[in-house]
Amino acid sequence: MWPMTTITLRTGSPANTKVDVVVIGVAQKPSKSAKDASTELEVAPGGEAVAEAYGRKFVPLLRSFEFRGAANEVLRIPTNGLIKASQLVIVGLGTQADLDPEVIRRAVGVAARNVGNAASVALAMPAEEAQMMKAAVGGFLAGGYTYTAYKSKPKDSQISDLIVLSPLARNKEMIAALAETKQLNQAIMKARDWVNCPPNTLPPATFATQAQEWATTLQADSAQALVTTEVFDEADLGELGCGGILGVGQGSTQPPRLVKLTYAPDDAKAVLALVGKGITFDSGGLSIKPAGGMAAMKSDMAGAATVIAATHAIAQLGLPIKVVTFAPMAENMPSGTAIRPGDVLTMHNGKTVEISNTDAEGRLILADALSLATEEKPDLIIDVATLTGACIVALGEKIAGIFGDDSVLSRVKAAATVSGELFWPLPIPEDKRDEVTQDSRIADLLQHKFVRWGGSLYAAAFLEQFTDTTPWAHLDIAGPSFNTGGPWGQTPPGGTGFGVSTLVEVARALATKPPTGETDSV
Ligand code: BES
Ligand code: MN
Ligand code: ZN
Repeated sequence: MWPMTTITLRTGSPANTKVDVVVIGVAQKPSKSAKDASTELEVAPGGEAVAEAYGRKFVPLLRSFEFRGAANEVLRIPTNGLIKASQLVIVGLGTQADLDPEVIRRAVGVAARNVGNAASVALAMPAEEAQMMKAAVGGFLAGGYTYTAYKSKPKDSQISDLIVLSPLARNKEMIAALAETKQLNQAIMKARDWVNCPPNTLPPATFATQAQEWATTLQADSAQALVTTEVFDEADLGELGCGGILGVGQGSTQPPRLVKLTYAPDDAKAVLALVGKGITFDSGGLSIKPAGGMAAMKSDMAGAATVIAATHAIAQLGLPIKVVTFAPMAENMPSGTAIRPGDVLTMHNGKTVEISNTDAEGRLILADALSLATEEKPDLIIDVATLTGACIVALGEKIAGIFGDDSVLSRVKAAATVSGELFWPLPIPEDKRDEVTQDSRIADLLQHKFVRWGGSLYAAAFLEQFTDTTPWAHLDIAGPSFNTGGPWGQTPPGGTGFGVSTLVEVARALATKPPTGETDSV
């Protein structure tokens, strides 16, 4: 939607900026009077000049529209010449005493969907710090995203100019931060586009080709060699002994693939391996899903989209970290050639797995990819997967579950405080480990147990079997990767691009605080 938008940092007053729409934020401040439970409205930094132009009538005007300043609230009003812009968009910031970047990101995301047919927009939001400015711009770009590839007559955005007002507009750090935001945004939008792509047009081989083509496109814009892409087909996977990827893929007429990306800068301070689940459609296979459960299953490749997008973002930002990324891709279909409950598959690391439910396919393709990742001798591995519905039951649809080694979990959590994405740790209990390793009568591992409880924990315990001794974290993004409801904050319906910005922040922090070399265990 926005690629045609020119984004410019500028100093100056929002009251005097010639644009169609100016966006300001208004927060709720608890009333000073103890008797009065109502809140006062306070214009956030960046928007003061607009409030001054309206004078004392500004807050009463907002109140007359019943604007309360709550998060997700938005009001668009004509300015009647009080400021240069013809319309003013006011977004609620809630009650946060200290505005944090995520509050801004969400509020500006809401604003982006409420600028009408404006051709030019100025953001008059807090922008004295790079993090806040990045949040405002990132929120605007992310919030206004729509997927129009299959609309005959898309309602195209008219926005040609986005002006970002900041007192530090000429500051080098700010200019660099804006460039970074554009690059990160491009990666997030790519991940969303892939997730939103209908599954009939994105089978594994096409997904792999598109990953390759995107790398070429990005390369064309860049001076140095960035990311190399390798695609492994069925024959290659056979040679590699990837029984999991081949097994899951064998029920479909669309053959599986494995995409490997490598970004290896000379000044690499650490090696990060990423693994992402790329099931282009999950019907469940012979253990077929009910119709309702299949509806959003084109999004079952969100993990792969996330890790591919993040790898390119890390490379474009020039972070001094080596990244090796594995994205196994397959379509999980029922047919005469599909795997059966009772089958045994041999994975890349030689472990045998007894299949009990063909709908627990993600762990099978990840098993091969994780063991391939360990062979790269990375300092840490992070896998990202729409792995279990049980994780949505546990944490809701906006929070991802994280499992694994403490040292990696703390890196993910620290990164998430910068990205604003929501994660919550879940355990890998000893009894689940025992079930995975002891409950198959005929193979090394049992893929799945028909117990209702703790399905995400069992899945994580299974994945752990393929991580060797490498510090590892597993991100279950089944909930937050795909928004089945209406838009909120900077999150549109459909693919969200969840995880990309957190992985980029993990890499950024790795560059300044590389691992000390000790391995740990939980
Ligand atoms: N792709 C699904 C998980 C999923 C469910 C993602 C809902 C997003 C929304 C996964 O392959 C799956 O089918 N999981 C099963 C696991 C079970 C068979 C052990 C599930 O969650 O029911
Ligand atoms: Mn499944
Ligand atoms: Zn799946």
